[in-house]
Amino acid sequence: MTEAPQQEQRRSSLLYDQWMESIGIPIHRGHYQSDLRTLELGWWEERQVNAAFLQMKGMEGVSEARIIEIPPGKTLPPLKMPIGETIYVLSGSGLASIWAGEGPKTSFEWGTHAMFHVPRYAYAQLSNARGDQPARLLHYNYMPMAMTVVPDPDFFFKNPYEDPSLLYGQGENLYSAAHAVLGAGAKDAMAEAEGAVRDDSIAAASHGGAWWVGNFFPDMAQWDKLSPYRGRGAGGFSVKMLFPGTNMSASMSVFDASMYKKAHLHGPGRVIVIPRGEGYSLLTEPGKEAVVCPWGEAAVFTPPGGWYHQHFNLGTEPARYLKFGHLPQFAGAGDYRDQIEYPDEDPKVREYFQSELAKRGRESQMPDIVYKDRDFEWAYGDDD
Ligand SMILES: [Fe+2]
Repeated sequence: MTEAPQQEQRRSSLLYDQWMESIGIPIHRGHYQSDLRTLELGWWEERQVNAAFLQMKGMEGVSEARIIEIPPGKTLPPLKMPIGETIYVLSGSGLASIWAGEGPKTSFEWGTHAMFHVPRYAYAQLSNARGDQPARLLHYNYMPMAMTVVPDPDFFFKNPYEDPSLLYGQGENLYSAAHAVLGAGAKDAMAEAEGAVRDDSIAAASHGGAWWVGNFFPDMAQWDKLSPYRGRGAGGFSVKMLFPGTNMSASMSVFDASMYKKAHLHGPGRVIVIPRGEGYSLLTEPGKEAVVCPWGEAAVFTPPGGWYHQHFNLGTEPARYLKFGHLPQFAGAGDYRDQIEYPDEDPKVREYFQSELAKRGRESQMPDIVYKDRDFEWAYGDDD
Protein backbone atom coordinates (compact mmCIF):
# COMPACT_ATOMS: atom_id res chain seq x y z
CA MET A 1 0.00 0.00 0.00
CA THR A 2 1.28 3.48 -0.73
CA GLU A 3 0.36 6.91 0.49
CA ALA A 4 -1.49 9.11 -1.98
CA PRO A 5 0.86 11.33 -4.00
CA GLN A 6 1.01 15.02 -3.20
CA GLN A 7 -1.05 17.47 -5.13
CA GLU A 8 0.17 17.95 -8.65
CA GLN A 9 0.05 20.99 -10.89
CA ARG A 10 -0.43 20.73 -14.61
CA ARG A 11 -1.56 22.84 -17.52
CA SER A 12 -4.76 21.64 -19.10
CA SER A 13 -6.11 22.20 -22.58
CA LEU A 14 -9.69 21.72 -21.39
CA LEU A 15 -11.82 24.84 -21.46
CA TYR A 16 -13.45 23.84 -18.20
CA ASP A 17 -10.06 23.70 -16.50
CA GLN A 18 -9.10 27.11 -17.88
CA TRP A 19 -12.41 28.55 -16.64
CA MET A 20 -11.97 26.91 -13.24
CA GLU A 21 -8.43 28.23 -12.90
CA SER A 22 -9.57 31.73 -13.92
CA ILE A 23 -11.83 31.97 -10.84
CA GLY A 24 -8.82 32.22 -8.54
CA ILE A 25 -10.11 30.06 -5.68
CA PRO A 26 -8.28 26.96 -4.40
CA ILE A 27 -8.35 23.81 -6.54
CA HIS A 28 -7.77 20.65 -4.52
CA ARG A 29 -6.29 17.66 -6.36
CA GLY A 30 -4.98 14.22 -5.46
CA HIS A 31 -7.09 11.14 -4.66
CA TYR A 32 -8.95 12.18 -1.52
CA GLN A 33 -9.65 14.90 1.02
CA SER A 34 -10.06 13.78 4.59
CA ASP A 35 -12.53 16.45 5.75
CA LEU A 36 -14.40 18.82 3.44
CA ARG A 37 -15.68 20.72 6.47
CA THR A 38 -12.22 22.15 7.08
CA LEU A 39 -10.90 22.32 3.51
CA GLU A 40 -9.22 25.60 2.53
CA LEU A 41 -11.55 27.90 0.59
CA GLY A 42 -11.18 31.30 -1.10
CA TRP A 43 -13.53 34.21 -1.72
CA TRP A 44 -15.48 34.07 -5.01
CA GLU A 45 -16.65 37.63 -5.53
CA GLU A 46 -19.15 36.95 -8.31
CA ARG A 47 -20.92 34.24 -6.33
CA GLN A 48 -20.49 36.09 -3.00
CA VAL A 49 -19.27 32.96 -1.30
CA ASN A 50 -16.18 31.20 0.02
CA ALA A 51 -15.51 28.26 -2.25
CA ALA A 52 -13.03 25.76 -3.66
CA PHE A 53 -13.00 23.28 -6.51
CA LEU A 54 -12.16 19.61 -6.17
CA GLN A 55 -10.49 18.18 -9.21
CA MET A 56 -9.26 14.86 -7.99
CA LYS A 57 -7.79 12.15 -10.13
CA GLY A 58 -10.52 10.56 -12.20
CA MET A 59 -12.71 13.67 -12.40
CA GLU A 60 -10.73 15.56 -15.03
CA GLY A 61 -12.85 16.41 -18.04
CA VAL A 62 -15.89 14.64 -16.59
CA SER A 63 -17.35 15.99 -13.38
CA GLU A 64 -17.25 19.14 -11.30
CA ALA A 65 -17.27 19.17 -7.52
CA ARG A 66 -17.05 22.42 -5.64
CA ILE A 67 -17.39 23.30 -2.01
CA ILE A 68 -19.16 26.47 -0.96
CA GLU A 69 -19.45 28.02 2.46
CA ILE A 70 -22.34 30.41 3.05
CA PRO A 71 -21.50 32.95 5.76
CA PRO A 72 -23.82 33.08 8.81
CA GLY A 73 -27.19 34.62 8.03
CA LYS A 74 -26.32 35.32 4.40
CA THR A 75 -28.37 34.70 1.25
CA LEU A 76 -26.44 34.01 -1.96
CA PRO A 77 -27.31 35.46 -5.38
CA PRO A 78 -29.53 33.07 -7.39
CA LEU A 79 -27.73 30.74 -9.79
CA LYS A 80 -29.23 29.21 -12.93
CA MET A 81 -27.45 26.77 -15.25
CA PRO A 82 -28.50 24.74 -18.28
CA ILE A 83 -27.23 21.60 -16.55
CA GLY A 84 -28.59 20.00 -13.40
CA GLU A 85 -26.66 19.93 -10.17
CA THR A 86 -26.79 17.77 -7.07
CA ILE A 87 -26.02 19.33 -3.69
CA TYR A 88 -25.00 17.60 -0.47
CA VAL A 89 -24.88 19.43 2.86
CA LEU A 90 -21.59 18.92 4.70
CA SER A 91 -22.48 21.05 7.71
CA GLY A 92 -24.96 23.68 8.79
CA SER A 93 -28.56 24.35 7.89
CA GLY A 94 -30.43 26.71 5.67
CA LEU A 95 -33.08 27.39 3.12
CA ALA A 96 -33.22 26.73 -0.64
CA SER A 97 -35.58 28.56 -2.97
CA ILE A 98 -36.01 27.02 -6.41
CA TRP A 99 -37.98 28.49 -9.31
CA ALA A 100 -38.04 28.63 -13.11
CA GLY A 101 -39.03 31.43 -15.44
CA GLU A 102 -41.70 33.60 -13.87
CA GLY A 103 -43.04 30.66 -11.87
CA PRO A 104 -43.60 30.48 -8.11
CA LYS A 105 -40.75 29.81 -5.71
CA THR A 106 -40.60 26.49 -3.94
CA SER A 107 -38.68 26.73 -0.68
CA PHE A 108 -37.50 24.04 1.67
CA GLU A 109 -35.20 23.72 4.65
CA TRP A 110 -32.07 21.65 4.57
CA GLY A 111 -29.71 20.50 7.30
CA THR A 112 -26.45 18.58 7.65
CA HIS A 113 -26.40 15.38 5.51
CA ALA A 114 -29.30 16.49 3.29
CA MET A 115 -29.04 15.94 -0.46
CA PHE A 116 -31.09 17.75 -3.09
CA HIS A 117 -31.14 18.25 -6.84
CA VAL A 118 -31.52 21.50 -8.77
CA PRO A 119 -32.93 20.82 -12.26
CA ARG A 120 -31.38 22.43 -15.32
CA TYR A 121 -32.77 25.89 -16.22
CA ALA A 122 -34.03 26.36 -12.64
CA TYR A 123 -32.88 29.17 -10.37
CA ALA A 124 -31.52 28.09 -7.02
CA GLN A 125 -31.01 30.55 -4.20
CA LEU A 126 -29.39 29.31 -1.01
CA SER A 127 -29.49 30.93 2.43
CA ASN A 128 -27.76 30.10 5.68
CA ALA A 129 -30.50 29.99 8.31
CA ARG A 130 -28.12 30.31 11.24
CA GLY A 131 -26.61 33.55 12.41
CA ASP A 132 -23.81 31.96 14.38
CA GLN A 133 -22.12 29.47 12.06
CA PRO A 134 -21.34 29.01 8.36
CA ALA A 135 -22.94 26.29 6.22
CA ARG A 136 -20.88 24.13 3.84
CA LEU A 137 -22.23 22.38 0.76
CA LEU A 138 -20.78 20.08 -1.90
CA HIS A 139 -22.05 20.69 -5.45
CA TYR A 140 -21.74 18.03 -8.14
CA ASN A 141 -22.43 18.33 -11.88
CA TYR A 142 -21.07 17.44 -15.34
CA MET A 143 -19.83 20.87 -16.35
CA PRO A 144 -16.39 19.71 -17.64
CA MET A 145 -18.03 17.47 -20.27
CA ALA A 146 -20.64 20.08 -21.12
CA MET A 147 -18.01 22.81 -21.58
CA THR A 148 -15.99 20.63 -23.93
CA VAL A 149 -19.03 20.13 -26.15
CA VAL A 150 -20.16 23.77 -25.95
CA PRO A 151 -16.96 25.77 -25.38
CA ASP A 152 -18.68 29.02 -24.37
CA PRO A 153 -18.78 29.73 -20.61
CA ASP A 154 -21.50 32.37 -21.15
CA PHE A 155 -23.74 29.62 -22.52
CA PHE A 156 -23.70 28.11 -19.04
CA PHE A 157 -23.85 31.20 -16.85
CA LYS A 158 -25.78 33.75 -18.96
CA ASN A 159 -28.18 31.50 -20.80
CA PRO A 160 -31.70 33.01 -21.16
CA TYR A 161 -33.33 29.74 -22.19
CA GLU A 162 -36.26 28.73 -20.00
CA ASP A 163 -38.15 25.48 -19.64
CA PRO A 164 -40.37 25.83 -16.56
CA SER A 165 -42.14 22.57 -17.41
CA LEU A 166 -39.03 20.70 -16.28
CA LEU A 167 -39.55 22.00 -12.77
CA TYR A 168 -43.30 22.52 -12.52
CA GLY A 169 -44.20 19.51 -14.61
CA GLN A 170 -43.07 17.28 -11.75
CA GLY A 171 -46.21 17.79 -9.68
CA GLU A 172 -46.98 19.96 -6.72
CA ASN A 173 -44.58 18.70 -4.11
CA LEU A 174 -41.31 19.19 -5.92
CA TYR A 175 -39.17 18.93 -2.81
CA SER A 176 -41.29 16.71 -0.60
CA ALA A 177 -39.86 13.37 0.50
CA ALA A 178 -38.71 10.98 -2.23
CA HIS A 179 -40.86 7.97 -3.13
CA ALA A 180 -39.82 4.43 -4.01
CA VAL A 181 -40.21 2.75 -7.35
CA LEU A 182 -39.63 -0.97 -7.15
CA GLY A 183 -38.30 -3.50 -9.62
CA ALA A 184 -39.73 -3.16 -13.11
CA GLY A 185 -41.41 0.07 -12.03
CA ALA A 186 -37.95 1.58 -11.77
CA LYS A 187 -37.44 1.01 -15.47
CA ASP A 188 -40.77 2.67 -16.20
CA ALA A 189 -39.80 5.63 -14.05
CA MET A 190 -36.49 5.94 -15.86
CA ALA A 191 -38.19 5.70 -19.23
CA GLU A 192 -40.70 8.33 -18.21
CA ALA A 193 -38.01 10.59 -16.81
CA GLU A 194 -35.64 10.57 -19.71
CA GLY A 195 -37.17 8.69 -22.58
CA ALA A 196 -34.57 5.96 -22.20
CA VAL A 197 -33.81 3.09 -19.89
CA ARG A 198 -30.32 2.80 -18.54
CA ASP A 199 -28.45 -0.43 -18.17
CA ASP A 200 -27.74 0.09 -14.50
CA SER A 201 -31.43 0.62 -13.70
CA ILE A 202 -31.94 -2.90 -14.95
CA ALA A 203 -29.03 -4.01 -12.76
CA ALA A 204 -30.68 -2.29 -9.79
CA ALA A 205 -33.96 -4.05 -10.40
CA SER A 206 -32.20 -7.38 -10.88
CA HIS A 207 -30.58 -7.30 -7.44
CA GLY A 208 -33.92 -6.49 -5.88
CA GLY A 209 -33.20 -2.84 -5.19
CA ALA A 210 -35.61 0.04 -5.33
CA TRP A 211 -35.03 3.36 -7.02
CA TRP A 212 -35.98 6.27 -4.81
CA VAL A 213 -37.21 9.11 -6.95
CA GLY A 214 -37.22 12.70 -5.74
CA ASN A 215 -35.42 16.01 -5.56
CA PHE A 216 -34.85 16.04 -1.81
CA PHE A 217 -33.40 13.47 0.57
CA PRO A 218 -33.40 15.02 4.04
CA ASP A 219 -30.69 13.03 5.85
CA MET A 220 -28.31 10.64 4.14
CA ALA A 221 -26.63 9.78 7.47
CA GLN A 222 -29.95 8.36 8.73
CA TRP A 223 -31.60 7.21 5.50
CA ASP A 224 -32.75 3.63 6.15
CA LYS A 225 -34.63 2.75 2.95
CA LEU A 226 -31.99 0.25 1.90
CA SER A 227 -31.97 -2.95 -0.14
CA PRO A 228 -29.61 -5.92 0.20
CA TYR A 229 -26.73 -5.55 -2.24
CA ARG A 230 -25.88 -9.20 -2.61
CA GLY A 231 -23.26 -9.01 -5.30
CA ARG A 232 -20.67 -6.79 -3.65
CA GLY A 233 -20.06 -8.74 -0.45
CA ALA A 234 -19.78 -7.85 3.24
CA GLY A 235 -23.53 -8.36 3.67
CA GLY A 236 -23.93 -4.79 2.47
CA PHE A 237 -27.00 -2.75 1.61
CA SER A 238 -27.52 0.00 -0.91
CA VAL A 239 -30.01 2.55 -2.14
CA LYS A 240 -30.27 4.08 -5.60
CA MET A 241 -31.64 7.57 -6.00
CA LEU A 242 -32.94 9.10 -9.18
CA PHE A 243 -33.65 12.78 -9.72
CA PRO A 244 -36.75 13.38 -11.87
CA GLY A 245 -36.33 14.60 -15.44
CA THR A 246 -32.62 13.91 -15.70
CA ASN A 247 -30.08 11.16 -16.19
CA MET A 248 -28.32 12.24 -12.99
CA SER A 249 -28.57 9.92 -10.03
CA ALA A 250 -26.80 8.95 -6.84
CA SER A 251 -26.44 5.84 -4.75
CA MET A 252 -25.33 4.98 -1.27
CA SER A 253 -23.91 1.81 0.26
CA VAL A 254 -24.02 0.80 3.92
CA PHE A 255 -21.99 -2.04 5.44
CA ASP A 256 -21.18 -3.35 8.89
CA ALA A 257 -18.26 -2.73 11.23
CA SER A 258 -15.05 -4.73 10.68
CA MET A 259 -16.13 -5.83 7.20
CA TYR A 260 -15.04 -4.93 3.67
CA LYS A 261 -16.57 -4.96 0.22
CA LYS A 262 -15.29 -6.61 -2.97
CA ALA A 263 -13.01 -4.64 -5.30
CA HIS A 264 -14.58 -3.49 -8.56
CA LEU A 265 -14.01 -0.97 -11.32
CA HIS A 266 -15.92 1.20 -13.79
CA GLY A 267 -15.61 4.50 -15.62
CA PRO A 268 -14.41 7.89 -14.34
CA GLY A 269 -16.06 10.89 -12.75
CA ARG A 270 -17.64 9.49 -9.61
CA VAL A 271 -17.27 11.42 -6.38
CA ILE A 272 -17.78 9.56 -3.11
CA VAL A 273 -18.50 11.36 0.15
CA ILE A 274 -18.89 9.84 3.61
CA PRO A 275 -22.05 10.74 5.58
CA ARG A 276 -21.08 8.47 8.47
CA GLY A 277 -18.45 5.96 9.49
CA GLU A 278 -14.72 5.40 9.72
CA GLY A 279 -12.53 3.38 7.41
CA TYR A 280 -10.51 3.54 4.24
CA SER A 281 -10.72 2.66 0.58
CA LEU A 282 -8.06 1.21 -1.68
CA LEU A 283 -7.74 2.66 -5.17
CA THR A 284 -5.67 0.36 -7.37
CA GLU A 285 -4.57 0.92 -10.92
CA PRO A 286 -4.35 -2.62 -12.36
CA GLY A 287 -0.82 -3.92 -11.93
CA LYS A 288 0.22 -1.14 -9.54
CA GLU A 289 0.39 -0.70 -5.78
CA ALA A 290 -2.87 0.33 -4.09
CA VAL A 291 -3.37 3.89 -2.84
CA VAL A 292 -4.88 4.11 0.65
CA CYS A 293 -7.63 6.72 1.13
CA PRO A 294 -8.52 7.00 4.84
CA TRP A 295 -11.99 8.35 5.54
CA GLY A 296 -14.40 9.55 8.19
CA GLU A 297 -17.41 11.84 8.04
CA ALA A 298 -17.19 14.48 5.29
CA ALA A 299 -14.19 12.82 3.62
CA VAL A 300 -14.28 12.55 -0.16
CA PHE A 301 -12.43 10.37 -2.67
CA THR A 302 -12.66 9.53 -6.34
CA PRO A 303 -11.94 6.18 -8.01
CA PRO A 304 -10.22 6.92 -11.34
CA GLY A 305 -11.75 5.24 -14.38
CA GLY A 306 -10.50 1.68 -14.78
CA TRP A 307 -9.00 1.54 -11.29
CA TYR A 308 -10.21 -1.08 -8.82
CA HIS A 309 -11.62 0.34 -5.62
CA GLN A 310 -12.58 -1.41 -2.42
CA HIS A 311 -14.12 -0.10 0.80
CA PHE A 312 -13.19 -1.12 4.36
CA ASN A 313 -15.06 -0.36 7.61
CA LEU A 314 -12.69 0.21 10.56
CA GLY A 315 -15.34 1.70 12.85
CA THR A 316 -17.61 0.19 15.47
CA GLU A 317 -20.85 0.95 13.62
CA PRO A 318 -22.10 0.57 10.05
CA ALA A 319 -20.33 2.88 7.60
CA ARG A 320 -21.98 4.52 4.60
CA TYR A 321 -20.64 6.09 1.44
CA LEU A 322 -22.65 8.25 -0.92
CA LYS A 323 -21.75 8.18 -4.61
CA PHE A 324 -22.42 10.85 -7.22
CA GLY A 325 -22.01 10.21 -10.91
CA HIS A 326 -23.63 7.25 -12.57
CA LEU A 327 -23.62 8.31 -16.19
CA PRO A 328 -24.53 5.28 -18.32
CA GLN A 329 -21.58 5.78 -20.69
CA PHE A 330 -19.21 5.26 -17.75
CA ALA A 331 -21.09 2.49 -15.97
CA GLY A 332 -18.78 -0.35 -16.93
CA ALA A 333 -20.15 -3.78 -17.67
CA GLY A 334 -23.19 -3.26 -15.44
CA ASP A 335 -22.78 -6.65 -13.81
CA TYR A 336 -20.11 -8.32 -11.70
CA ARG A 337 -17.59 -9.09 -14.41
CA ASP A 338 -15.56 -6.07 -13.33
CA GLN A 339 -15.24 -7.30 -9.78
CA ILE A 340 -12.61 -9.29 -7.86
CA GLU A 341 -14.13 -12.08 -5.78
CA TYR A 342 -12.65 -12.57 -2.30
CA PRO A 343 -10.88 -15.88 -3.11
CA ASP A 344 -9.12 -14.13 -6.01
CA GLU A 345 -7.91 -11.02 -4.22
CA ASP A 346 -4.31 -10.41 -3.19
CA PRO A 347 -3.96 -11.77 0.39
CA LYS A 348 -2.21 -8.49 1.25
CA VAL A 349 -5.64 -6.82 1.05
CA ARG A 350 -7.07 -8.73 3.99
CA GLU A 351 -3.75 -8.69 5.89
CA TYR A 352 -3.64 -4.91 5.73
CA PHE A 353 -7.27 -4.74 6.91
CA GLN A 354 -6.54 -7.09 9.81
CA SER A 355 -3.49 -5.05 10.81
CA GLU A 356 -5.48 -1.80 10.77
CA LEU A 357 -8.19 -3.39 12.92
CA ALA A 358 -5.57 -4.81 15.30
CA LYS A 359 -4.25 -1.27 15.89
CA ARG A 360 -7.75 -0.50 17.17
CA GLY A 361 -7.98 -3.67 19.27
CA ARG A 362 -10.48 -5.38 16.97
CA GLU A 363 -10.61 -8.29 14.55
CA SER A 364 -12.04 -8.78 11.09
CA GLN A 365 -15.62 -10.06 11.08
CA MET A 366 -15.28 -11.45 7.56
CA PRO A 367 -16.24 -15.14 7.69
CA ASP A 368 -13.38 -17.37 6.62
CA ILE A 369 -15.55 -19.14 4.07
CA VAL A 370 -15.70 -16.06 1.81
CA TYR A 371 -12.03 -16.67 0.93
CA LYS A 372 -12.75 -20.28 -0.11
CA ASP A 373 -16.22 -20.31 -1.64
CA ARG A 374 -16.74 -17.80 -4.42
CA ASP A 375 -20.46 -18.63 -4.46
CA PHE A 376 -20.89 -17.84 -0.78
CA GLU A 377 -23.99 -15.77 -0.13
CA TRP A 378 -24.56 -13.60 2.91
CA ALA A 379 -27.75 -14.24 4.85
CA TYR A 380 -29.96 -11.17 5.03
CA GLY A 381 -32.46 -12.55 7.58
CA ASP A 382 -35.84 -10.83 7.33
CA ASP A 383 -34.66 -8.83 4.34
CA ASP A 384 -34.48 -11.97 2.23
FE1 LIG B 1 -17.47 1.96 -7.72
